[in-house]
Amino acid sequence: MTTPASTTRVLTGITTSGTPHLGNYVGAVRPAIVASRDPGTESFYFLADLHSLIKAQDPAKTQRSTLEIAATWLAAGLDPSKVWFYRQSDVPEITELTWYLTCVAGKGILNRAHAYKAAVDKNRADGEDDDFGVTAGLFMYPVLMAADILIFNAHKVPVGRDQVQHIEMARDFGQRFNHIYGREFFTLPEASVDDNVATLPGLDGRKMSKSYGNTIPLFAPRNELRKLIAGIVTDSRAPGEPKDAEGSALFQLYQAFASAEETAAFAGDFASGIGWGDAKRKLFERIDAEVAPLREKYEALVAKPGDIEAILRDGAARLREKYAKPFLAELRDAVGLRDLSKQAASGKKKAAEKTALPAFKQYRDSDNRFYFKLLDAEGKLLVQSAGFDSPKDAGRLIGVLKQVERGDALETPGIELQVPVEEVLAALRALRDAET
Ligand code: TRP
Repeated sequence: MTTPASTTRVLTGITTSGTPHLGNYVGAVRPAIVASRDPGTESFYFLADLHSLIKAQDPAKTQRSTLEIAATWLAAGLDPSKVWFYRQSDVPEITELTWYLTCVAGKGILNRAHAYKAAVDKNRADGEDDDFGVTAGLFMYPVLMAADILIFNAHKVPVGRDQVQHIEMARDFGQRFNHIYGREFFTLPEASVDDNVATLPGLDGRKMSKSYGNTIPLFAPRNELRKLIAGIVTDSRAPGEPKDAEGSALFQLYQAFASAEETAAFAGDFASGIGWGDAKRKLFERIDAEVAPLREKYEALVAKPGDIEAILRDGAARLREKYAKPFLAELRDAVGLRDLSKQAASGKKKAAEKTALPAFKQYRDSDNRFYFKLLDAEGKLLVQSAGFDSPKDAGRLIGVLKQVERGDALETPGIELQVPVEEVLAALRALRDAET
């Protein structure tokens, strides 16, 4: 994978909980796969299985869900030879970075995370202890997520609105780390929220969501899909009566899968009084036309879990070699987790470098006046000052001398050169170079 400097790195995580439904497909999978084909981007899609442990603590379900979600993305057309596709837990550098970020993250910021605050608010409303039932995992969720993003220096993170705060926190933690350790180690990521992607209604007309129990599984077998669609709530208008497309869950679902022309035709059907049974049949056919080929791929993939395992491991292995391992080596060094023998050597080298520089020395003499001198790296006297009434006056002239670039500027009262002008100029230049 080649990565020109102008490439935008786009990264997003997919929590491995539950079985993907039509809402996930339309709202996340489909647009992400379209975006991943953009030539100007280097895309990272990963299964956030460590995040899923915060809520899902049934090992068999975690494993199954990881398999299903990986198979879903592959079936929907994600190409693991063109994008980075991996499992979070296969990149141990992410968890290592989580700790370094934990040590710079403000606890007060985490206190304000929406998910944590919602849990606390609920406890208060229920008259419970603030942190009743709250795990440290829930509390630390944003730090793990920041590590996911910062480790690959992602520029853009496509997420839903509910996740924007997490991206802001990732920026905050990254910035703190950069500030403390004195360099731009981390790119500060931006959330990108696409308001154009549809949120699908579920069987009961509310937003399709696992928590409402109103979902249509993306890869439900054909017959089950037909039955589920037949169960979508409608009003009681009889065939022949005109129906409102606006606000109809059925219509919105259709629109998410149909072209503009098909949608217009369907609106025409509504106006001319299509029966709900017929409308549902049309909806079923339209959805199935898009989903059936993917379902077939999905079933083939799920039947060969070893292949999916190999794809995920390969993605993580390549990614670790290319980015995660070298970057973490750099970060470990930055925070001071270093090879002790090397550290001792480089400490010595620093001291040596210091003595290798010329230096101004200020002092007060027995006449109680303030003096300075400029010494070269070996301690030879280059410039001797006259006595000043205050250390400020001496300091001011040192400031002037530090700026001097030309020999004639050294012909100034208050100092006496002890060596040729060129030698003094060279020393001043060496000082300036060392400071910049
Ligand atoms: N928290 C995200 C969600 O619930 C999933 C996620 C984990 C994620 N790590 C991420 C998203 C990093 C973007 C970037 O949807």
